[in-house]
Amino acid sequence: MSNSNQDFLCDVKKVFFDVKGDDKGRLVFFQNGNNLSFDIKRVFFIYNTKDCISRGHHAHYKTKQLLVATSGCVQINCEWKGRKESFVLSRPDMGLIIEGMVWHTMDNFSSDCVLMVLADSYYDEADYVRDYNEFLRVSGQ
Ligand code: TYD
Repeated sequence: MSNSNQDFLCDVKKVFFDVKGDDKGRLVFFQNGNNLSFDIKRVFFIYNTKDCISRGHHAHYKTKQLLVATSGCVQINCEWKGRKESFVLSRPDMGLIIEGMVWHTMDNFSSDCVLMVLADSYYDEADYVRDYNEFLRVSGQ
């Protein structure tokens, strides 16, 4: 491929959400054009993942995602721009935005973990980089 060292979209941000709450309980919402930095095209959930399992192991050329552990907890390990950082998602009012060329893996899933992912793209295998060496090459590292 000829697109190594390009200036790909590439960012990771931890975010906290406003919580609507009263004596009935709590509520968090996401709405296009309101409290999200991208428009949602796709939603998926990861759950029933054993704690010995590591998932992900890919980056995206373009996709932006917001990850939220709506139940339980999970560790998200990110590598981008030569930097490595792990984030623990353990509450429904906190999330991680992963944009573009970020190698990410997910592990230490609690048995009750439901990891919700909001994405700005339809599922497209062509947007994935699933080979780590290819990720290093494409991202110019
Ligand atoms: P995969 O990306 O391998 O999961 P993980 O990175 O969490 O280990 O996806 C698992 C399967 O689900 C794979 O066959 C692709 C499919 N899939 C969809 O069809 N649509 C989607 O939006 C996603 C995220 C995955």
